[in-house]
Amino acid sequence: MEDITTRTQVEFLVDRFYEEIVRDNVIGFFFTDIAKIDLSKHLPKMYNFWESILLGNPVYEGNPMRVHFPLNEVAALEERHFNRWLQVWEKTVHDHFEGPTAETAVTRALNIARIMSYKMTNARSLE
Ligand code: HEM
Repeated sequence: MEDITTRTQVEFLVDRFYEEIVRDNVIGFFFTDIAKIDLSKHLPKMYNFWESILLGNPVYEGNPMRVHFPLNEVAALEERHFNRWLQVWEKTVHDHFEGPTAETAVTRALNIARIMSYKMTNARSLE
């Protein structure tokens, strides 16, 4: 298996992840029922986000934390949801890629998810 070195591979990885996540029993509803995301608009943002992290090209402009707070107000984003997100992400990465950048994809997601989970729980306790 190859490592992740190109935009095309980043897009492939994100596409495979979204194929799974939108029909996932545990967290699919956040995407389909709560946010009702338009994949044609959402996926390019995710490609840019991961290209910035994995390939070091600063193409993502946005705030990944911010968009999750309104979701959290409609339906709590709990630790178990983040665990499921991470499980699907890690499996998708490891099903297709191997190498240092693939490992970065897993560890960066874990770090971001931990911070995000903490912030979401904290936001709920302040209400
Ligand atoms: C339970 C876990 C998660 C759920 C259910 C979730 C759900 C969502 C949804 C529904 C959106 C679209 C929001 C909108 O456009 O209205 C979104 C955006 C996004 N998510 Fe998550 N997410 C989760 C965890 C994560 C994690 C761990 C990361 C990063 C590693 C992440 C990165 C992003 C990014 C970069 C965006 C796009 C932000 C932008 O519009 O610029 N998400 N997420």
